[in-house]
Amino acid sequence: MSQLETRIKETAERVNAALDGLLPKAQGSESRLLTAMRYAALAGGKRLRPFFTMEAGRLFDADEGHLLRAAIAIECVHTYSLIHDDLPCMDDDDLRRGRPTLHRAFDEATAVLAGDALLTFAFEFMAEPATHPDPQMRCLLIAGLAKASGAQGMVAGQAADMAGEDIGSDLIAVTRMNRLKTGALINFAVDAGALIGCASDAEKTSLSRYAHDVGLAYQMVDDLLDAEGVVRDTGKAVGKDKDRGKVNFVTVLGVDATRDRVRMLADQAKRHLSIFGPRARSLIDAVDFIIERRY
Ligand code: IPE
Ligand code: IPE
Ligand code: MG
Ligand code: MG
Ligand code: MG
Repeated sequence: MSQLETRIKETAERVNAALDGLLPKAQGSESRLLTAMRYAALAGGKRLRPFFTMEAGRLFDADEGHLLRAAIAIECVHTYSLIHDDLPCMDDDDLRRGRPTLHRAFDEATAVLAGDALLTFAFEFMAEPATHPDPQMRCLLIAGLAKASGAQGMVAGQAADMAGEDIGSDLIAVTRMNRLKTGALINFAVDAGALIGCASDAEKTSLSRYAHDVGLAYQMVDDLLDAEGVVRDTGKAVGKDKDRGKVNFVTVLGVDATRDRVRMLADQAKRHLSIFGPRARSLIDAVDFIIERRY
């Protein structure tokens, strides 16, 4: 395992252990809902958004406890987005992270509600004083997460995805959709680390530009994996975007042209970090990990 993979694994283990302790134990009248939340939130996942928050914050020696809390809130929003994305009214998927999707393992209503509860848990958790002693910082984090997740961010992208060809199948429409549905939250994951680390404006801008390119490339690789990946690695169904008439880079441009664009974005992303020198090694190596991943 490379140094980078070890670091990603360490972050994932910290997130998993913390989430296990933080999510309410499944007992009492709401035990079905709570069991469902835990099923979805503790089912693995690469935990790359938390990794971005932690590594961006580490550039500025930010407090690890503060970074971890912000990272966990972001991961809860991401997990909720996957639960809803898999529902029959959206992508109608049966497999997620190598296990039955939440509505398959439980039922649709429970999946909707567990998603809702993880979303609201994220904001409750971010708002607690332990996230950061400065209330203004907590407000910035809450507002940033809300904007990245909602109708100006992830939810808008999901709406565009569901609209399919109605949004147009030109590259401008597809780029915008990817930026929103996946890029916005990845962007905020990096920005949160810079915020907590009290980065300078120039440093924040460089990191945000990096996250912009990485976020776009991330969804393009996800689309490539749908076209070329195998279920054993991805832990989710493959080959469905084309069958369902989804508009994405691969269905519009094809595999080779999409791969070329991913490489261009990867080089560009790395270049944005040049102001940090060797300190940004993990974030730079993460770009290669993301574009070469099989899962
Ligand atoms: C999958 O996200 C959906 C997208 C936004 C591309 P990830 O590939 O980060 O999924 P997990 O969290 O590792 O399962
Ligand atoms: C999902 O995109 C993006 C989200 C915001 C959840 P996809 O629908 O392509 O994600 P997968 O392939 O199901 O993980
Ligand atoms: Mg989808
Ligand atoms: Mg999907
Ligand atoms: Mg996909």
